[in-house]
Amino acid sequence: MSPLDGQVALVTGAGSGIGRGGAVAFGALGATVMVADINLDGAQETVEMLQASGVEAAAVHCDVTDEASVVAMIEATVSTFGKLDAAFNNAGNALGQYAIHEMPLDYWKQSVEVNLTGTFLCLKHEVVHMTANGGGRIVNTSSGAAKVPAPGRAPYSAAKRGIVALTAHIASDYAKQGIRSNAVLPGLIDTPGVRANYEDGQLEKIAQYVPGGRLGEPADIGEVAAWLCTDAARFINGQALVVDGGGILA
Ligand SMILES: NC(=O)c1ccc[n+]([C@@H]2O[C@H](COP(=O)([O-])OP(=O)(O)OC[C@H]3O[C@@H](n4cnc5c(N)ncnc54)[C@H](O)[C@@H]3O)[C@@H](O)[C@H]2O)c1
Repeated sequence: MSPLDGQVALVTGAGSGIGRGGAVAFGALGATVMVADINLDGAQETVEMLQASGVEAAAVHCDVTDEASVVAMIEATVSTFGKLDAAFNNAGNALGQYAIHEMPLDYWKQSVEVNLTGTFLCLKHEVVHMTANGGGRIVNTSSGAAKVPAPGRAPYSAAKRGIVALTAHIASDYAKQGIRSNAVLPGLIDTPGVRANYEDGQLEKIAQYVPGGRLGEPADIGEVAAWLCTDAARFINGQALVVDGGGILA
C-alpha cells in the first residue's frame, strides 16, 4: 500500500521542471495525476513518462492566469478521475530582470499575474471541490526569493512572498473543512526554466556555493510536495518550507 493510493493529484506547470518532478513523485506514491500546463505538448510528455511507469495520468491545457481556464482544468480533473484530493500549485516563472526604477509596469503585472494571481485562482477553485469532497491537501510553490531578494526580480520576490501569505490564509480559513495548505520554497533547482536565465557554465559556478555542492533537482522539490500531501504530514499546516540544500549565498 502506497501513501497516496486511491488519491487524485493535480499538478500545475507539470510540463517541465519542478512540476514534472512533482507529477512523478505523486505518481510514485500511488496517486493518479492530472498534469496541467499552458504548454500541452510538455504536459503530454509528462503523462507519457508517468504511464510508462504504470501511473494513471492525463494532460489538460491550462493558463493559470485565466479564471475560466482554471475552472475548466479542475472540472476536467473531477470529470476524468472523479475527485480532487491533492493539488501542487506550481506554475510560475521568473523572466527578465530590472532595477525597480527602470521596471516597466507590464513587467511587474506579468510576474505578479502568473506567480501570485495564478496561484490564487487555483486555490479559489480547488477549495470548492475539496470542501465538497470532505477535505484535501495543497502545496504551493513559492521560492527562496520570498525570503532573500532575487536581484532584479522584485515582483517575483513579492509574488512568492504573497504565496506564503495565501498559503497561511488557506490553512487557517479551511482547516475545519479538512484542507491543509503548505508552501515549498525551493533554492536554485536545475530546470529548463532556470537554464534559460543563465549563460553556459554559470549555474555550475553557483552550485559551488550551495553547502551540498550541487543545485537542486526537480525531484528534490517534487518529493517534498508529495510527502506534504501524505498522512505522515497530517499536522503540518500553513507552513513555508525552505528546500535548498542548506542555503544559497550567490
Ligand atoms: N527552478 C528554480 O530554481 C526555482 C526556484 C524557486 C522557485 N521556483 C518556482 O518553481 C516553479 C516551477 O519552475 P521551474 O523552474 O520548474 O520552471 P520551468 O519553466 O522549467 O517550468 C514551469 C512550467 O510552468 C508552465 N507555465 C508557465 N506559465 C504558466 C501558466 N500561465 N499557466 C500554466 N502553466 C504555466 C510552463 O509552461 C512550464 O512547463 C515556478 O513557480 C518557479 O517560480 C523555481
